[in-house]
Amino acid sequence: MAQQEYKLLSDNLFTYKGGVFLTDEKLDLTPDVIDNLEHFEVRDDDLYVVTFPKSGTVWTQRIITLIFEEDFPEMKERTTFQWMPWLEYQYKGLDYNVQRSPRLFCSHLHQHVMPTGLQRKKAKVIYVSRNPKDVLVSYMHFSQFMRKLESPAHWDDMMDKFCTGWMIGGCWFDHVREWYKNHDKFNILFLTYEEMIKDLRAVVVRVCEFVGKQVSDSAVDDIVSRSTFDNMKMDQKANYEFLPDDVKDKSKGRFLRKGTVGDWKNHLTVAQSERFDRVYEEKMKGFPVKFAWDMSDL
Ligand code: A3P
Repeated sequence: MAQQEYKLLSDNLFTYKGGVFLTDEKLDLTPDVIDNLEHFEVRDDDLYVVTFPKSGTVWTQRIITLIFEEDFPEMKERTTFQWMPWLEYQYKGLDYNVQRSPRLFCSHLHQHVMPTGLQRKKAKVIYVSRNPKDVLVSYMHFSQFMRKLESPAHWDDMMDKFCTGWMIGGCWFDHVREWYKNHDKFNILFLTYEEMIKDLRAVVVRVCEFVGKQVSDSAVDDIVSRSTFDNMKMDQKANYEFLPDDVKDKSKGRFLRKGTVGDWKNHLTVAQSERFDRVYEEKMKGFPVKFAWDMSDL
């Protein structure tokens, strides 16, 4: 199968089984590691936040860690990145099997390479998606400040990258469609970035219910307040400014960049947007979710 093939895309990026992965000397991520994830020992009380990159991962990660904060006093001083690591980006020397429960993970993996143990439908998955034009714009900025990514020279190049899927995460269209299509194999909650923007409190409440946490109204208020864009931007445990200089060029941008719906209108021309619409219509035919494309759709 073509999508199984391993191919090096640059010094730091390779594609395998439909995904595109970043690797370096600290990670040692290889196709074998991805194959082995199928057998990763899932615990019934694990929680996995899965996204295509730039869809609200670190935001959801912050919300989840705040919901579990009182259970993990020892983690309070750690970054969200340490507390809720990426399943596929396991740093050398870290052993997820010795982590205490409930384990919290993030992942950008496609559904078909996730650990099969998730299909016992005990462990929980939260899948967050975002309208793809905003994902594209966010990724363009992201690739400018992440040193290990090649930054496209123009928006047309970024569109080509997005449409071919040669970016971390792989093909957005396949990623999102596949997760929705296979929803009944998982104990899964679907969220969109746009609904988080529209009513963060309602989303926090839904997430608390889904993960089985009874949280008082005032605790919900606190979680909402600490995960707003402005507060998270200042939160050194959660804003990803802690990434080292060899990973992120701080002078060129931030993870918490704009945090809105419809920023693509400030970047794509009408012709580019129409080209995107044609690809979207072709690839997402019959897709059950209607994304909000700008603030007026909320
Ligand atoms: P923008 O680049 O459009 O601003 P990810 O975490 O998947 O990489 O997604 C990053 C995107 O989520 C960025 O979008 C970032 O600003 C946005 N984001 C992160 N935290 C947020 C928050 N608290 N509120 C709104 N948007 C947030």
